[in-house]
Amino acid sequence: MTTPVSEPNIPPSNHRHIMKFFVLCIVTLVSIEFITVNTVPNESRTILNFRHKLFAKGMWMYDKKKTLPWVPLQLIEFHPPSTNSKKLFPDVEAGGRFRPSECVSRHRVAIVIPYRNREEQLRNLLYNLHSLLARQQLDYGIYVSTRFNRAMLLNIGYSEAIKIYDYQCFIFHDVDLIPQDDRLLYNCPTQPRHMSAAVDKFKYKLPYPEIFGGVSALTKDQFVKVNGFSNIFFGWGGEDDDMYKRIKHNGYDVKRYPMNIARYRMIKHSRDKGNEPIPQRMNNLKNAAKRSEYEGLSTLKYKILHLEQKKLYTWIHVAINETEIMADLRNKTEMNTKRFGTAFRGESFVR
Ligand SMILES: *[C@@H]1O[C@H](CO)[C@@H](O)[C@H](O)[C@H]1NC(C)=O
Ligand SMILES: *[C@@H]1O[C@H](CO)[C@@H](O)[C@H](O)[C@H]1NC(C)=O
Repeated sequence: MTTPVSEPNIPPSNHRHIMKFFVLCIVTLVSIEFITVNTVPNESRTILNFRHKLFAKGMWMYDKKKTLPWVPLQLIEFHPPSTNSKKLFPDVEAGGRFRPSECVSRHRVAIVIPYRNREEQLRNLLYNLHSLLARQQLDYGIYVSTRFNRAMLLNIGYSEAIKIYDYQCFIFHDVDLIPQDDRLLYNCPTQPRHMSAAVDKFKYKLPYPEIFGGVSALTKDQFVKVNGFSNIFFGWGGEDDDMYKRIKHNGYDVKRYPMNIARYRMIKHSRDKGNEPIPQRMNNLKNAAKRSEYEGLSTLKYKILHLEQKKLYTWIHVAINETEIMADLRNKTEMNTKRFGTAFRGESFVR
């Protein structure tokens, strides 16, 4: 004989209270998530702090399964094992791809890293990034492209990444900058974001208000609207300021996280050979806004020499014909001199 299952010993009025409490909890959590993702970084400081505290205490749902190792907030420089080690980051798929197994991520993010022969730095960055980004539950991939011309490599990384997956957000990331704070969310807000605002090399102060170099985030729509980066900055410097002008020219604003969050450590290095400062980079900037209308992503030209899905990243090796790009530019500039008048001189581009 089976005994009848007794009713739970809770009066109906208590039921309602418990339900109300749960609904309130869910609404609060959803609002926090919504506000964190959508607010202007400066205003989200309290919420980010709150979320981080929950996360640190293991109360934030992301960490419930404890599948990912806890990494201290201050990520430090060290000598990580080889990036091809199979044991490292078992959840990361070939090509440096990761997506959370317990949910569908709200953010599909491609990290694009321009690279020039600094293997140790790349390993260091990859190790830190994979630790950080998996805990942010992003659906992401890492793309490393090689050759000199930072801006063009970023355009190329973008172009190749969208062929592989439907990314909606792009983080352009220098190889020598290591994020130092877990609250640096690698997603895209409604305005372009300059991520590396506080770098140890500059005493964690913003060097100048228009700076957009180092690490920056744009949505796909924003990147297409500003016509990507300029292709003409062969050598060192200027391309990030050019991008800032493109962003402003298209009616966007640059946002940043608070300075106590946007912290990065710069790994020391000397400037590479063949990557000298561009003497006329200031001249290039004079017509940056107008040039953005006909030069950039829309005129990108390159040849893939090698594309390989390594364990922690997708490797893109390309050939760029500088002569051809500059000839193309002079040609386009001539046509546009008619549009923009005599103040627009193509000679200033030539190296
Ligand atoms: C680059 O382009 C120029 C002009 O089109 C061409 O003459 C030259 O052979 C090209 N260089 C290489 C390395 O392909
Ligand atoms: C310059 O533009 C003209 C007209 O659009 C085109 O016929 C020519 O091939 C272009 N030259 C170069 C080097 O791109």
